[in-house]
Amino acid sequence: MSATSITIHFTLNGERVSAEIEPHHTILEVLRQQFALYGARESCGQGLCGCCTVIVNGESVSGCLYLAAMADGGEVSTVEHLDADGELDVVQQAFIECGAFQCGFCTSGFILMSRQLLDRNPDPTESEIRHFLSGNLCRCAAYPEIIEAVKLAAKMRKSAGAVPA
Ligand code: FES
Ligand code: FES
Repeated sequence: MSATSITIHFTLNGERVSAEIEPHHTILEVLRQQFALYGARESCGQGLCGCCTVIVNGESVSGCLYLAAMADGGEVSTVEHLDADGELDVVQQAFIECGAFQCGFCTSGFILMSRQLLDRNPDPTESEIRHFLSGNLCRCAAYPEIIEAVKLAAKMRKSAGAVPA
């Protein structure tokens, strides 16, 4: 612990946790280095690609830019929380079914953003899907499969009764 370190307390994937951080630490660094949560990844490091997406207080943020200190007292969730009850989320299932990845580096960001989209708009059009996911980049260009996966997840959620038909 250095002279400048501070302690933050927050809810992480449903559990109350604390972390000793430096003021310049990002939430991505804290999640990976202190909690061994590796789903969010650093790629561009500049808020441009979405690989580092995490959810803070219900909103998606770029974990590579979001200072961990800003999460103090808040609620953070990561892709690891989606299957916390031992079952894959419908969006994860749809990504697997559609083969919506190649190297997988971008996948957790796409999955979290797709969940955010479907929670807000259960039956998005293709252009709404493209627009909502436009901040996420896939260097393997798996875009067609990703779009299909989001459409499939919307259908699966509807047939499971998660959203009104
Ligand atoms: S690594 Fe954070 S947006 Fe690219
Ligand atoms: S699957 Fe490789 S970057 Fe998207």
